[in-house]
Amino acid sequence: MVVDDEKMITTTLSTMFKLMLKENVIVYNDVEQALACEELENNKVDLIISDFMMPKMNGLEFLKNVRGKCPDTVTILLTGYADKENAIKSINEIGLYYYLEKPWDNNDLIKVVKNGLEKKELADHLKDKYKEIETSNREITRLYELLKHDYNKETESTKNLIITLANVIEAKDKYTDGHTRRVAMISRMIGERLGLEEEKLNALEIAGIVHDIGKVGVPESILNKPDKLTDEEFEVIKRHSEVGETILKPLDSLRECLVPVRNHHEKINGSGYPDGLKGEDITIETRILAVADIFDALYSDRPYRNKLPLSSVKDILMKDVNSECLDEEVVRMLFDMIDKGDIERVFE
Ligand SMILES: [Fe+2]
Repeated sequence: MVVDDEKMITTTLSTMFKLMLKENVIVYNDVEQALACEELENNKVDLIISDFMMPKMNGLEFLKNVRGKCPDTVTILLTGYADKENAIKSINEIGLYYYLEKPWDNNDLIKVVKNGLEKKELADHLKDKYKEIETSNREITRLYELLKHDYNKETESTKNLIITLANVIEAKDKYTDGHTRRVAMISRMIGERLGLEEEKLNALEIAGIVHDIGKVGVPESILNKPDKLTDEEFEVIKRHSEVGETILKPLDSLRECLVPVRNHHEKINGSGYPDGLKGEDITIETRILAVADIFDALYSDRPYRNKLPLSSVKDILMKDVNSECLDEEVVRMLFDMIDKGDIERVFE
């Protein structure tokens, strides 16, 4: 865009730019018309050359207004010698790209305009790229939020599911009140002492809560029987660890718990159930769960007896170690917790 109140100048410049730069040129001899034109309103002007001395508004004011509307448009001011100082000041003030003194050299002017247009093209290109990056960033943020939301939702529903499973078993077996929660806590505390990694500790804790879920398959008359169980009744009870594994199998988030749930009644000497596993075939998580389970059963009131004193509990557990039923290191860790008073936390 060329803006000058002298028609001769706008015609000369317009012809020169069209011929030499092959650009579209629009001209205005009235500065107010120029400022209100459609091209500026729509931010379609790449470069403006404006005269300084014009009626109604001088070139600096005009270009200042242009900057407010179209901050990316490149602006060049044509000044008389006397206005040189004002032009220099305005370079920073209105972001003037260049000023040329009258009378100008045509070659200089063409060069300046050409460079100005290149600068504008580069700036537009960068702006487009910036917009692309911004769009990508927004999309990444949106996906991240979505994943985070889904993850939270999944974590939340898994947590609720575990609590529900624990409630199911506690509602069915009235003598296990709080047992699953304590077994979970004790198992985790032993696991921490043995240096198990966080993922395994979490799985162990969950296994502690759900380890007896298979008892939902045992009739209440057997489960809550205050007298000694018959051999047949005990056989029914023994099925609970396998049933538990079957119940939990479809839940992907609980797959780490399946082995300890199935094997928590196995014994190192092979006399346990359901598979009679021996020694190394019983994982450390399972050994921990077994010790925690037996400890809590002995240290809680049962229908047929009151809870045993800690010294008796320790004696029984030590006997189980000596007969190779329980893991010695795991039991020693539990004893350490008892001796240091850490176990009391579980019963608060
Ligand atoms: Fe059990």
